[in-house]
Amino acid sequence: MECCCLTVCVGTVALLFALLWWFVRALNRSSFWVLMWNVFIIEQLRNKFTQTTRPQRILKAVQKNATKGDPDSVISAIDHYCKHSEWAMNVGDEKGSILDSVVSEVNPSTVLELGTYCGYSAVRIARLLSPGSKLITVEFNPAIAAIAKQIIAYAGIQDKVTLVEGSSGDLIPKMKECFGITSFDFIFLDHWKDRYVPDTKLLEECGLLRKGTVLLADNVICPGAPEYLKYIRNNRRYESRYYPAHLEYTKVEDGLEKSIFLG
Ligand SMILES: C[S@@+](CC[C@H](N)C(=O)[O-])C[C@H]1O[C@@H](n2cnc3c(N)ncnc32)[C@H](O)[C@@H]1O
Repeated sequence: MECCCLTVCVGTVALLFALLWWFVRALNRSSFWVLMWNVFIIEQLRNKFTQTTRPQRILKAVQKNATKGDPDSVISAIDHYCKHSEWAMNVGDEKGSILDSVVSEVNPSTVLELGTYCGYSAVRIARLLSPGSKLITVEFNPAIAAIAKQIIAYAGIQDKVTLVEGSSGDLIPKMKECFGITSFDFIFLDHWKDRYVPDTKLLEECGLLRKGTVLLADNVICPGAPEYLKYIRNNRRYESRYYPAHLEYTKVEDGLEKSIFLG
């Protein structure tokens, strides 16, 4: 009887071990699942043990490693931290350089960003703006917005950036009245993906798009915005082009969709 119990116990432990081994191997085979593991398990554990949040740790990395008033050093410090310490949902360096080239090509006077997070892309965009140009960036999480404000100020580009707290759906209709915007030259969509279509329609309805306004949407492949791609690519009011790249700090396929509003 004892021998039988021992065999069952050893068998169960061996099975559990084999399952764990398979799980870890599967995780390593797919960077996407490594990412999910990081976001849902590692981040939560880190938050619990350090009593800090990921945005707070990113701010700390900026304060430690970047030079005050130097936006490029802020961008490098965030990229370095997110590549080597913990992943975060900034647009990142690879897609960031595509963003840079679109911003430089458009040379916008008025920019709207939907989804600020820690201010990484806001710093990227604002550092390329000509004097007198303005970026309005929208973030609905107040704790994250507070961190982004500090990172933007650390980069020394606070005069070019207005960070507005609130949800895109509430704020887009107030852009004319509250911020004196006639229309935007460039819009970066990088908030929750299910808002891409309703917010694009809202921007159209509110008359915030002019002939030639450029929309650039992040993460159209991962996590993905299929409804947005369907809407924008099959719409005669837009001319669209896809820029292939990878999800920030990973080898997972992702890309940006650039769409020009034709009026
Ligand atoms: C992918 S992150 C933005 C990353 C940032 N653009 C960057 O590259 O550094 C998305 C952010 O959008 C915010 N967000 C999501 N949906 C929103 C909405 N409807 N209105 C305002 N903010 C939103 C989230 O809280 C999150 O901080």
